[in-house]
Amino acid sequence: MILATPDATHAFGRQLADLILPGDVIALSGDLGAGKTSLARGLLAGLGLAEEAPSPSFSLVIPYDPPLVRMPVWHVDLYRLEDADEAEELGLDDALYDSALLIEWPERLGNRLWPHALKLRIDPEGEGRRLTADVPPSWGARWLW
Ligand SMILES: Nc1ncnc2c1ncn2[C@@H]1O[C@H](COP(=O)(O)OP(=O)(O)OP(=O)(O)O)[C@@H](O)[C@H]1O
Ligand SMILES: [Mg+2]
Repeated sequence: MILATPDATHAFGRQLADLILPGDVIALSGDLGAGKTSLARGLLAGLGLAEEAPSPSFSLVIPYDPPLVRMPVWHVDLYRLEDADEAEELGLDDALYDSALLIEWPERLGNRLWPHALKLRIDPEGEGRRLTADVPPSWGARWLW
């Protein structure tokens, strides 16, 4: 799918907000500046977040809970993660009992990325972006295209 403008990226994130459920993992891949945070901001806005979500690049994890959003979701950016072992300390596994995870730089988890993760990849395409999706069975019936 082509996302021609930043608004299109945001709007796509908002659409995902209608599909996401607790326990879901959305892995957002793409180079620096690809638009991962932009998509996450759209999704969080779609879940009801009134203010623009800050980037979790420094804190690594920003949890959102109702009533700020209609379901709990953790926005995660693993760019600065030193190694996959350090990820255990973030408590992502436990979060999945009641929350969804939006993970920028999921590659940092190596082979620890959950098999049921929806993998989205954003790449430059002209002035805009191309979004590619690797859709696991748990998302099959919900998926948009
Ligand atoms: N579809 C699009 N077309 C053109 N520009 C876009 C598109 N989507 C997002 N952008 C722009 O890309 C820029 C970088 O976005 P963003 O911060 O979301 O990247 P990122 O992938 O999160 O980067 P990082 O890896 O540093 O966290 C922003 O200026 C945003 O407006
Ligand atoms: Mg980002």
